[in-house]
Amino acid sequence: MTDLTKLEADLSAAVAGAADLTALEAVRVAALGKSGSISELLKSLGGMSPDERREQGPRINGLRDRLQGAIAARKADLETAELDARLAAERVDLTLPAAPRRKGGVHPTMQVMDEMIAVFAEMGFSVAEGPDIETDFNNFTALNFPPKHPAREMHDTFFLPADESGERKVLRTHTSPVQVRVMHKTNEKLPSWIAAGQEPPIRVIVPGRTFRKDSDQTHTPMFHQIEGLVIDKNIHMGHLKWTLETFIARFFETDAVETRFRPHHFPFTEPSAEMDVKCDRSGGEVKIGQGEDWLEILGCGMVHPNVLRNCGLDPDVWQGFAFGCGVDRLGVLKYGMPDLRDMFASDVRWLDHYGFSAFQAPNQASGLS
Ligand code: DAH
Repeated sequence: MTDLTKLEADLSAAVAGAADLTALEAVRVAALGKSGSISELLKSLGGMSPDERREQGPRINGLRDRLQGAIAARKADLETAELDARLAAERVDLTLPAAPRRKGGVHPTMQVMDEMIAVFAEMGFSVAEGPDIETDFNNFTALNFPPKHPAREMHDTFFLPADESGERKVLRTHTSPVQVRVMHKTNEKLPSWIAAGQEPPIRVIVPGRTFRKDSDQTHTPMFHQIEGLVIDKNIHMGHLKWTLETFIARFFETDAVETRFRPHHFPFTEPSAEMDVKCDRSGGEVKIGQGEDWLEILGCGMVHPNVLRNCGLDPDVWQGFAFGCGVDRLGVLKYGMPDLRDMFASDVRWLDHYGFSAFQAPNQASGLS
């Protein structure tokens, strides 16, 4: 006769000692499988006398039930432990920095602006800014555009709807209105970042967004300009020419750039000129320092006496020069981009290709680009 007490003790020990689910299954099969020790005992009930069976039946069945319970409990423990082990092994540390797949970059327009600012800052210019939405007075009237004069249309202006007083503001067509803001002693309460009423001598550059109804390979409805303004006593065209030629050589980081001045007309300068750089346009790309083509890059001139007067300065005491230059256009030239419109197309592949490192601020000492 099997010693049920010893068998139960042995099986309990085996269940408790099963280190994993495979070992536990082996214990189960050895006891409860087809020819397991408990199954054999259950089979033996059939050959017993009724009295014997009445006594042994409940003992063997009880043993089987307790063992099944013990195996189920052990199985649950092992499964929990296994899951814990897996969770620990597969833990993802979310505090670790992710490996960068692509670095952010500085847009060429912003890079070029920073480069231009670096060059002019070294020459002693400070930076002024003005708003994109401008009064008709600052954008046109104060700059000596006569009322109703066709020159106001020359800029393909975006006009805003008239306000209560009937005034129609404009999206500024150039950065030149900031000249007015810098020179004009205004009573307007302006935010501190907007240039207002400086005493001459004045030496400022004005980077910013400008707007015109125009779109083709070399024009976009929104583009960027940098304005320059110098007001002092005895300023003449020679100062203007030196400043711009020096700027171009430093910006393109070579003396090989050829420039020329062409007489031109702007209402706010007298005399006025446009400056071109020599370039090569063959092959779809614009390359500077070679070729026989000219590309217009800026307008300039001596500040018109009417503009000085409109801003409250006496033209017999103060003179000045001014210039306005397309920032995007200079970027296209310097970095060889075939189409100006790509600048604002937000194509990630283009930005990846032409973008600049955010960690290298342009400066004259270590190189601009
Ligand atoms: N405002 C002119 C334009 O957008 C550019 C310009 C020409 C600016 C001559 C000036 C200047 O300051 O003196 O076409």
